[in-house]
Amino acid sequence: MKRRQPAGKKAHQLWGGRFAGGQHPALEAVNRSIDIDFRLWPFDVRLSQAWANALVGARVFSRTEAIRVRRGLGRVAKRIASGVRPLRTDEDIHTLIDRLLHDEVGDIASRLHTGRSRNDQVVTASRLYVMDALSKLEREIVKLQRTCVARASSVLGVIMPAYTHLQRAQPVSVAHWLLAHFWALDRDRVRTRAARHSAGVMPLGSGAIAGSAFRVNRARLARDLGFHSISANSIDAVGDRDFMVEALFSMTTLTTHLSRLAEDLILFGSSEFGFVRFADAFSTGSSMMPQKRNPDALELARASPARMTGDLVTLLGTLKGTPSGYNKDFQEDKRALFDGFDGVALLLPAVSGTLRTLRFNRSRMLAAVSSSMMATDLADFLVRRGVSFRDAHHAVGSLVRQAESAGIELSELPVSSLQDAHPLLSSAARRELSPLRSLRNRELPGGTGPSAVSSQLASAREILSDI
Ligand code: ARG
Repeated sequence: MKRRQPAGKKAHQLWGGRFAGGQHPALEAVNRSIDIDFRLWPFDVRLSQAWANALVGARVFSRTEAIRVRRGLGRVAKRIASGVRPLRTDEDIHTLIDRLLHDEVGDIASRLHTGRSRNDQVVTASRLYVMDALSKLEREIVKLQRTCVARASSVLGVIMPAYTHLQRAQPVSVAHWLLAHFWALDRDRVRTRAARHSAGVMPLGSGAIAGSAFRVNRARLARDLGFHSISANSIDAVGDRDFMVEALFSMTTLTTHLSRLAEDLILFGSSEFGFVRFADAFSTGSSMMPQKRNPDALELARASPARMTGDLVTLLGTLKGTPSGYNKDFQEDKRALFDGFDGVALLLPAVSGTLRTLRFNRSRMLAAVSSSMMATDLADFLVRRGVSFRDAHHAVGSLVRQAESAGIELSELPVSSLQDAHPLLSSAARRELSPLRSLRNRELPGGTGPSAVSSQLASAREILSDI
């Protein structure tokens, strides 16, 4: 941002009468927050317009004066939108808007600040920003959820290995794995919505700390601005940043989930797995190795919880131990908050796009399901015939060991070995070593059975259709 102060002109300030001299440049520099809070301008303009109206009810403005101020603010918004930038001397966004409003409507602009303080103003504007940003975030989360559902529908019936400790565990349907990520994202969506609700309490009217001395109709003001309720205590209202903590926490958890989806996909996209292939549009090359096809967006998603956790901890650390009411410490809240929103805003479309455009390699996935992954099914076969799970586990374990030392698949062991391990292990038991059968054994709600996954998919679709 390039800013200039015309020579000889005094800085526009919202305070200063009680000081004889000017500010030291070092104080001015450390105190200024305009580079961070500039983006609050649309919200500060909106709340100022609503405040002008409220001042009519409080008999501070006549109707025509309020109209003049509101229109003036409208012109200020146009000027900022079309590129007017702050001067070096504009302390923060509230000061900038006040200065521009003076340019537009003259001295009447000074009366707009009647009964309010930047303390209730800044937190009101921040809440409006958070409500708006969380609505946008929720829409992006839903887009990724839709992508999970669409991709799950495209691979119904396809089987892959599921891993625990990143070791081959049991076969599942690919749709089941994709939907696992859907449900994690659904909790993020719900959390985002809850955080938005927390932000929807209006502090305006709290003044600096004790409440405004002018009887503005706060309930009406809240309705005009889209808040669902008003704060109950002015001291709490100007010092409460819980809504920011909740917003950042919901983003931290979201990025944690994105990082886990990313890590699955990065592994699955490696030559060793070869389960998926990323589209050209979502792959990057190497400056040295011509063969490379890197999933950069996913790696950045994997790294993102670090930044987000940092922002959350920065905010909590800033708030800790501050005395009640407003403190200048809170000016630092927005740096962390905005960084969080900026981070996720970039990530979600990139992760959605990568998932939407990748190709699944069905045969590679099925080929990775080795017959020992159905060892549990073989043990369950014995359990269904009255054997205790402990004994069944032991018998099948010995078969796995035999197959391993012979370098063959569990399914390749002769029937005689099966019977040696346990007399009830007939050749019929071998059927248990089919991946599809293993899936079909798990038709309970939440399991990977084909019908269970279809109803899971239907529940996911229902959630999305209600949004
Ligand atoms: N720039 C300030 C902030 O972000 C605005 C509130 C300033 N209030 C004050 N009393 N100095 O917190």
